[in-house]
Amino acid sequence: MEKSYKSMDHFWMPFTANRAFKASPRIIERAEGMWLYNDQGQQILDGIAGLWCVNAGHGRRSIADAISAQIQKLDYSSPFNMGHDIGFEFAERLTRYTPEGMDRVFFANSGSESVETALKIALAYHRARGKSGKIRFIGREKGYHGVNFGGITVGGITPNRSGFGPLMPVDHFGHTHDLAANAFSRGLPEHGADKADELQRLIDFHGADTVAAVIVEPVSGAGGVLMPPIGYLQRLRDICSRHDILLIFDEVITGWGRLGAPFAARKFEVTPDLITSAKGISNGLVPLGAVFMRNEICDTVQAAAPDGSVEFFHGYTYSGSPIGCAAGLATLNIYDQEGLLTRASGEIGAYFEESLHSLANAPGVVDVRNCGLIGAVQFAPNADGSPRAPELSNSCYAKGAAIRPIGDNLAFSPPLIIEKAQVDQLVETVFDAAKAAYA
Ligand SMILES: Cc1ncc(COP(=O)(O)O)c(C=O)c1O
Repeated sequence: MEKSYKSMDHFWMPFTANRAFKASPRIIERAEGMWLYNDQGQQILDGIAGLWCVNAGHGRRSIADAISAQIQKLDYSSPFNMGHDIGFEFAERLTRYTPEGMDRVFFANSGSESVETALKIALAYHRARGKSGKIRFIGREKGYHGVNFGGITVGGITPNRSGFGPLMPVDHFGHTHDLAANAFSRGLPEHGADKADELQRLIDFHGADTVAAVIVEPVSGAGGVLMPPIGYLQRLRDICSRHDILLIFDEVITGWGRLGAPFAARKFEVTPDLITSAKGISNGLVPLGAVFMRNEICDTVQAAAPDGSVEFFHGYTYSGSPIGCAAGLATLNIYDQEGLLTRASGEIGAYFEESLHSLANAPGVVDVRNCGLIGAVQFAPNADGSPRAPELSNSCYAKGAAIRPIGDNLAFSPPLIIEKAQVDQLVETVFDAAKAAYA
């Protein structure tokens, strides 16, 4: 088909090798269900739900209809000192899925904005309680919390941080990946709950009265798909509680059914103080983020402000936009009607686990790990230490499957509607790519 644009130079693409991409572009023209269709007429199985977000699959008509109806009724109104019914309805509806006692929501437009919002709420909360010395954050190596300044400060992926300093006061404890002890784990790895104790060391080092919050992804995504060892998250919870430090779970990926429950907090039965959310909250169709928090946090910040004054000097033009809320409500309806938030805990999750682990026998594979409908296959690097995953991912794409390279890993996070035959296709494609690469 004739392209209507003349040049690709104008669009500086995010997290993309722009020159390489534009020399050999991949253009996706449409999508439906589990499938992407490119401009070469090729059908690509979406093994990553867009970018960990299209949990209910592509082309969901009921969401499009809800957005369209909302635009025709109320397209936009200011969220500052004005409200609309659908905002309050959506906020209340969301709290059906959050852990008990986390019934307050602050809206943003992305995962990155949700993280910034959560960090600022943590500071506001301590200040409201007269603990304004608590200003330090603690993140974790390999953590990904978006790309804004707060997020890269607490994040632990070096190239995302270096070159953008100086950042805020922060420290990081170690990640949980331990190939020697836990290779080929199914679900949560057995060894390593004691890795949480490093947090205690950092708190002792800095002083608990300087630490505002600890932020982790319950399952680390962009850092390489790393599962928390059994008992590890509870230890983090206990340490934070002991020292009056807020625990933030960044559930931008793990929320909305990815692990077979609405949130990792519910799946693992560890309740943080704040949860950041985005992506699957609107099936990835409309930029939308949210921060959920313990009621007491919201109530404390609000009560500390003088009557009639703004309690929290924060918010976005599109916080709780009518269109975002309409998309979100329609998304939740699909999740409920189709049982998608628990589907990964059932037969398809078990099938995914079994199939993914069959790749343990594929050439070059050094680890396979999974939880719910998220998984990674780790490959031995090249002799010079460079990863093989980008080449393997390219070869999977050429064979009709989108699977994301992250470091030495191929990462899987398919839409939650995936069927067994499609799991087979993903796994067979990876096996063939590995056979060709390591032959
Ligand atoms: C755990 C986590 N937090 C935050 C973000 C940032 O989200 P966004 O790209 O919507 O800003 C991501 C994105 O992948 C993420 O995985």
